Amino acid sequence: MSSTLIDLNHTQEEKIFQDKIDGELKIEPKDWMPDAYRKTNIRQISQHAHSEVVGMLPEGNWITRAPSLKRKAILIAKVQDEAGHGLYLYSAAETLGQSRDEMIADLHSGKAKYSSIFNYPSLSWADMGAIGWLVDGAAIMNQVMLTRTSYGPYARAMVRICKEESFHQRQGFEALLVLSKGTAEQKAMCQDAINRWWWPALMMFGPRDSESTNSDQSMKWKIKRKTNDELRQNFVDMIAEQVKTLGMKLPDDKLKWNEERKHYDFGAINWDEFWQVVKGNGPCNKQRLDARRKAYEAGKWVREAALAFSNKRKQKTSAA
Ligand code: 3HC
Repeated sequence: MSSTLIDLNHTQEEKIFQDKIDGELKIEPKDWMPDAYRKTNIRQISQHAHSEVVGMLPEGNWITRAPSLKRKAILIAKVQDEAGHGLYLYSAAETLGQSRDEMIADLHSGKAKYSSIFNYPSLSWADMGAIGWLVDGAAIMNQVMLTRTSYGPYARAMVRICKEESFHQRQGFEALLVLSKGTAEQKAMCQDAINRWWWPALMMFGPRDSESTNSDQSMKWKIKRKTNDELRQNFVDMIAEQVKTLGMKLPDDKLKWNEERKHYDFGAINWDEFWQVVKGNGPCNKQRLDARRKAYEAGKWVREAALAFSNKRKQKTSAA
């Protein structure tokens, strides 16, 4: 086929693709898509999956130290959910042609990112509440938007994940509510956890729009429906109201309702800290990746046994 014909064909495919996006149709695995669309979805979905799996670590740290059997059961259920979210998202990324082994190898080598938030230590039981309320709250803000993302498997994975995330956020808020009505030490523990998780939670939405390298294209392709700053602002507005119920304060003396903007004004985020953590120099980056590599090694025999079993079964069915 002559090159002009190939180019014509290509533009036709581009047009059909963009018409689908503009027509609010989902892009499915077997549809033609620009390489860059495939690539940025693999990037975002796989990093989302890594975040879910690494995100199990700060909370897993408190399962054996939960203050009651009820709290332990709730926390185990939540951490287990996160593992499932990671599996859905790895499966969604695999539909784009990236193997799970490649994605895991990219995480373990430090090549792939995961959410900066999980590189902070969980220092007290109140952190379980602050993570549920603030981290899962920020995740929901972002993930509800992603239920409308243009790539079909990603959007559908988000629908189920969002249902479970709302349980995560409520159990976190409820745990803090109990502490906020407790002894002076419990109140102080609650406020301390909020102080430590507030600013890193705002960083979860990504850099300022002016520094967001992927946003413009992701908005055009409806991978994103809102920008980083828009989602961050929605989150601040929501939490600034919810914190009143706890009788606690957010650690930002610039936080103030702006009647004209109909939003809360808030203080400056420490973007140097953000980029340091993204680059691997956060408080727990090394610990988190070491733990993931160790768990992956320890689970090798399970993967090998499962593979041997499925190969045996394939041989049996093909021999029958
Ligand atoms: N931590 C680490 N890296 C981050 C980051 C963060 N908080 N925010 C942005 N980055 C990275 C981006 O990945 C990008 O690097 P890359 O091009 O090498 O991937 C760079 O910083 C510039 O950021 P952009 O704004 O250009 O990147 P995006 O357009 O991808 O927007 C995002 C960033 C909003 C996080 C988007 O990737 C997204 O919506 N991802 C899906 C949701 C997600 O991953 N959430 C993470 C938390 S999951 C979670 O909390 C689990 C819950 O159960 C607790």
